[in-house]
Amino acid sequence: MKSLIDITDLDTVEIDGLIADSLDIIAHPEKYARVCERKKLATLFFEPSTRTRLSFEAAMYELGGNVLSVAGSGTSSAAKGESVADTARVVSCYADIIAMRHPKEGAALVAAMNSSVPVINAGDGGHCHPTQTLADLLTVYREKGRLSGLTVGVCGDLKFGRTVHSLIGAMSRSDDMKFVLVSPAELKLPSYVKNETLKKRSIPYYQTEDLDSVMPELDILYMTRIQRERFFNEEDYLRLRDSYILTPEKLKRAKPDMCVMHPLPRVNEISVAVDDDPRACYFKQVLNGKYIRMALIIKLLREAGRL
Ligand code: NCD
Repeated sequence: MKSLIDITDLDTVEIDGLIADSLDIIAHPEKYARVCERKKLATLFFEPSTRTRLSFEAAMYELGGNVLSVAGSGTSSAAKGESVADTARVVSCYADIIAMRHPKEGAALVAAMNSSVPVINAGDGGHCHPTQTLADLLTVYREKGRLSGLTVGVCGDLKFGRTVHSLIGAMSRSDDMKFVLVSPAELKLPSYVKNETLKKRSIPYYQTEDLDSVMPELDILYMTRIQRERFFNEEDYLRLRDSYILTPEKLKRAKPDMCVMHPLPRVNEISVAVDDDPRACYFKQVLNGKYIRMALIIKLLREAGRL
C-alpha cells in the first residue's frame, strides 16, 4: 500500500497527474464534493502547525469526508509514552488515511510501516515535507506554466528547512534546472541532500551568502524561516535570524516576473511591504496546498482500494 513519506515516493508522471487533478478540482469543485463521503482522515500533529493541518482538514471536508484530529503530543497517548508504531497501528483501525507531523526525522516512515492505511508525511523534524512541495509545484506550474527550465534560488535555513529538502528533491528531476543556494555558512544545505539530488543528477548549482548579487538571475526565489526550534542554542538563533530580509528595495533587482515563494510562517524574512508586489506568491501557495492535498487524498485512497 502506498504512503507518501518522501517526495521521491511519487515519480514525475504521478506528480504531473496530481497537478492535472488539482487543476480539475479548481475548475470543477462540485464534481469532487462527495468523492470521499464516509471516509475518515486522521490528522496526528505532534508539532505546531496552522496551514498544513487545516489544509488537510479543509481538503477532506471539501471532498465530503470526515476528520479525526489529534493536535499536540500533550493530548494523545504519546504523552503516556506510546510509540509512533503503536499509535499508527491503533489509528489505522479508525481512519482510512493518516496525515502525520512529528518532530523526529523518520517518524512518518515508522508510522507507515505499522499502519494498515496510507500515511502522509506532513513534516518529520528537519528531514522533509513532501506535501508542502506539492503545493509549491502546483504554484510554480500555475505561475510559470512549466516545472522545467528555471533558475531557483532557495534562501535562509537550508540546513533545517525541510520544505527546501523536498523541493530540491522534486525539482532536480526536471530538465534544464539551476539552483542557487543562499544561506549563512552554518545553515548550508546538508550534504546528503546535495549528494542524493543535485550531484547525483549533475544539476548545476552554487552556494553563496549574498542574496543581492544573485537576485537578477532568479526565476523563483524561495525564502525560508530560520528554524528556531531545531537550534541547539538560542544565541546562534538570535545571531542568524535576521540574515536575510526581503524588501521592495531588494526586489528592484529581480526579474519582473520572478516568483517570491515562502512555505510560511514568515517571521522576518519577507517584509510585509512585499505582500502587495505582484511577484509575491506565498499566499497563493497556501490555497494551492489545499487543492493538491485533495488530489493526493483521492489518489492514495484509490490506490489503497478504499475508494
Ligand atoms: C513549514 C514547515 O512546517 O516545515 N511550514 C509549513 O508547513 N507550511 C515551514 C516552517 O515551519 O518554516
